Amino acid sequence: MTEYAGRLRLGVNIDHVATVRNARGGAYPDPLRAAEIAQEAGADGITAHLREDRRHITDADIEGLMQTLTVPLNFEMAATEEMQKIALRHRPHAVCIVPEKREEKTTEGGLEVAREENRLAHFIAPLREVGCRVSIFIAADPRQIEAAHRIGAQVIELHTGAYCDAHAEARLAERDEELEKLRAMSAFAHSLGLEVHAGHGLTYDTVQPVAACPEVVELNIGHFLVGEAIFRGLGPAIAEMRRLMDAARA
Ligand code: PXP
Repeated sequence: MTEYAGRLRLGVNIDHVATVRNARGGAYPDPLRAAEIAQEAGADGITAHLREDRRHITDADIEGLMQTLTVPLNFEMAATEEMQKIALRHRPHAVCIVPEKREEKTTEGGLEVAREENRLAHFIAPLREVGCRVSIFIAADPRQIEAAHRIGAQVIELHTGAYCDAHAEARLAERDEELEKLRAMSAFAHSLGLEVHAGHGLTYDTVQPVAACPEVVELNIGHFLVGEAIFRGLGPAIAEMRRLMDAARA
């Protein structure tokens, strides 16, 4: 989303509202309605991942989001020709390039940028030309960060999945190591002039140490919020995340 100019931004990922809708193949729950509620509850942006297999978000959802959102859309996509065409047609505020495997349940790791520098540099150039901010979803690894910088990305999003998994499985030493990597790598990326985002697997229990990293300007959070919405409603679930983020930042 835009250059950091204040509080830590929250991008709400609405993919899994679409997952529930698609379980029955009907029209509800409507991801556009979720986006509207998220905006009202304090989301600074909406994130949606159009997967190759359209397992959750559909082309029509992206179309609808582009028409109705009042906050920026962060369009997550794989580095494929099909997705590039769609992004060039819609020109969302931001695109986040993610790795994608059909058989995975979710985006399992970060993008391998270092080994694909040439292809990715050519891939993102037209997206930048039409005005999209290009973000690359990567592991907290200096090789990948340097490569993302070299190919001309303006933003990196650090994958917080390893940190969250270690927390969930009570592997505490590993969790602390992962957190330390996230801290060090956000400072490193910032020193190169990259805008730093983070996300994947974050919950009320894990968000605060990441939110406290001063170089991180945006968190993208989805699955936990959609789950929590079952119990307390989407607006209150997001408002609580917002509160925890702001408290960690203060
Ligand atoms: N950021 C990126 C790049 C992602 O791919 C995802 C998952 O789609 C998220 C953030 C949000 O992860 P979660 O749904 O686990 O909060």
